[in-house]
Amino acid sequence: MKQLIIEGGYELTGVIPISGAKNSAVALIPASLLSDDIVTIDNIPNISDIDALNEILQFLNARVKRVNGAIQIDSSNVENKEIPKEISSKLRASYYFMAALLGKYKKVEMYFPGGCSIGARPIDQTLKAFRALGATVEELDDHFRIEAENLNGADIYLDMPSVGATINTILASVKAKGITTINNAAREPEIVNVATFLNSMGAKIEGAGTSQIKIIGVSRLKGCFHEVIPDRIEAGTYVMMGAMLGRNLKIQGLIPEHIQALLTKLHEMGADMRIEEDFIIINRSPLKSVSIKTLGYPGFATDLQQPFTTLLTQCEGEGIVEETVYENRFQNVSHLINMGANIKTIHNQKIIVSGKTPLHASTVEATDLRAGACMIMAALVANGTTTIDNVEHVLRGYENIVEKLTNVGAKIKLN
Ligand code: EPU
Repeated sequence: MKQLIIEGGYELTGVIPISGAKNSAVALIPASLLSDDIVTIDNIPNISDIDALNEILQFLNARVKRVNGAIQIDSSNVENKEIPKEISSKLRASYYFMAALLGKYKKVEMYFPGGCSIGARPIDQTLKAFRALGATVEELDDHFRIEAENLNGADIYLDMPSVGATINTILASVKAKGITTINNAAREPEIVNVATFLNSMGAKIEGAGTSQIKIIGVSRLKGCFHEVIPDRIEAGTYVMMGAMLGRNLKIQGLIPEHIQALLTKLHEMGADMRIEEDFIIINRSPLKSVSIKTLGYPGFATDLQQPFTTLLTQCEGEGIVEETVYENRFQNVSHLINMGANIKTIHNQKIIVSGKTPLHASTVEATDLRAGACMIMAALVANGTTTIDNVEHVLRGYENIVEKLTNVGAKIKLN
């Protein structure tokens, strides 16, 4: 078990560069299998989720080169084999392989994907889309056998705008015969990034970023060069740290529009920030509480909710946090209370945070990736030295977090 040891109370000043988006990269890598030629993807973050995908690529016999943040994938020798459960259960994104292999070979066998334990996270919408495209899906406990004689375009309505189901439907239909329409599609920037990648390979995808996506099937996809967009959740996390502890803290290389909901909230709270095209400079300032409700993009991102809760502990007044995407994304709360936060639970998807409360050092846990970011923020602002256990979760999603924070003045160590 890895731990972060953080001595709190230091101001953060200097530059934090933003890495490529985890949730984009983890879809682009499996999507690359659809190409018949070599693809190169640049700005791949160096995080453990990517290592897990790399392991799957190697297992499938893809030829992979990783040089200076780029990954080159040659799928010409790929074998459509069942990915062992120990690898696919390491992360959620392993289910993108399910869709890509189905889209390419019309057959796939796989286990239920892993990922943070933040709710039930079923994959019924993905399976519904596979069936609509003409596949038969056999489910045996946590194992799936999916097969189609032909994949044919279809009209698909998602019961909720699921990121995973939207990307999976695109991957499975991009080489299907005819036209597929996804209605009530998710609109996250990562989906646009995946569609742009596939279009560079020769796919015909229209409307990504809106709630209706049209995919006109093509028979062949060629190689291409592509770049991962900046990680909006990483950027949002560092912007919030700057709101608590920044002195001219520059968050470099983000797309501010991708965190517009957070920036608007910070503005309402009275944050002192300068927003430019690809950077934000933020200073610590007195903040007043606001309430947030998580929603799909462009609503307030659920992945920023837990770190935002730490920020609210440092604001004057009461703020309500309502989580509408996942059923179990408040595992950070008891740890924050342990550090001195004043948080009351209204019901299992709604809490009230009253501030401002000084936080004190403690031993806490990163119960999931973004809960880990929440605890790091709390530790940075707390008096004394906090130990955060189970930080493997954090290392799955935040590239070089120890180095990035050390460079701007934090006292943080990985054990
Ligand atoms: N849902 C269903 N059925 C489905 C699909 C989703 O009921 O078939 C529900 C889920 O249970 C959840 C909601 O719909 O309650 C939204 O799920 P979604 O499919 O949008 O999430 P995801 O694709 O599993 C991705 C990110 C998450 C991020 C969400 C929402 C990846 C690998 N993961 O998950 O990222 O929270 O979109 O933006 O892209 C994280 O980075 O910490 C993280 C959890």
